[in-house]
Amino acid sequence: MRVGHISDLHILHLDQPAPLEFLNKRLVGGLNLILNRSKAHSRQVVERALAQLDELDVDHIVISGDLTNLALESEFIAAAEVVSTIADATDRVTVVPGNHDYYTPGAVRAGRFEEHFAPFLKSDLPEFQLDHGYPFCHLRGPVAFIGLNSGIATPWLFATGRVRDDELLATRELLAHEEIKSRFKVVVVHHPLFPDEHHRVYFNRRLINRADLLDVVRHGDVDVVMHGHNHVFSIVRVPKLGSPGTTFVCEAGSTSMDGGGDERIAGRFNIYTIEDGELQTVESHLFQGHESGFVPWHTEVFRHEVAGT
Ligand SMILES: [Fe+2]
Ligand SMILES: [Fe+2]
Repeated sequence: MRVGHISDLHILHLDQPAPLEFLNKRLVGGLNLILNRSKAHSRQVVERALAQLDELDVDHIVISGDLTNLALESEFIAAAEVVSTIADATDRVTVVPGNHDYYTPGAVRAGRFEEHFAPFLKSDLPEFQLDHGYPFCHLRGPVAFIGLNSGIATPWLFATGRVRDDELLATRELLAHEEIKSRFKVVVVHHPLFPDEHHRVYFNRRLINRADLLDVVRHGDVDVVMHGHNHVFSIVRVPKLGSPGTTFVCEAGSTSMDGGGDERIAGRFNIYTIEDGELQTVESHLFQGHESGFVPWHTEVFRHEVAGT
């Protein structure tokens, strides 16, 4: 199975947001966004990534959060439109919210993300889903995708996340289910499990209970964690605790960054090849302008076939 991983789309759509909506943290966030972000993230770059993932024959697509910027209704409509262009999207897409999709208490209370992405949040083992809809799982052939929610509404200048304690408990139980245990296990969550070396200040953007989630992941023999949030490509390997083997904690980077020719910030996506119950390779593809589109940039090979064996 080949799995495409896109993230942090930050699709901009500021069509007449109600004035009242700007009388909260969006006042700061919105101004910052307009000044700094409006040219950086591009819907066209996301559409190009999806077209290329189609050509590259991926079976499933993971989207690890931050589809919007200010969690506005208009942004969710635009983001859902983009996702719905994926062929057989409701069967082939696993998507979770990020902190930007939970930008204000109002957006969280209204369940705006869950409303717009409801068809993608249906679980194959619904008995483990809590009132807020997580954890959910998608059983697809030999692979189980488990979606978690680390989004919380935060004060100004904070981008922290937290997975609810009852959600962690339900995830631990879900990972012990026969249908999951017998499969290759992928956990999808927006916030990273490890401190971020790419930002000067980490405290205000961390996953608050990352140690607890890491414990669930390692004891649950999770094979790959796919996350977003830092907008960089990274792979961290940690030993499993429930059995021999490795948990790969992977970030694709932000897919929508135009980059303006700067490879350090240009858009990225990952493709994971999973065969015989093992992660074989992770390929990172980098956006190199509207003419070339995304090109292979870096490949990690985890399983080497020895000739004649
Ligand atoms: Fe982001
Ligand atoms: Fe984020």
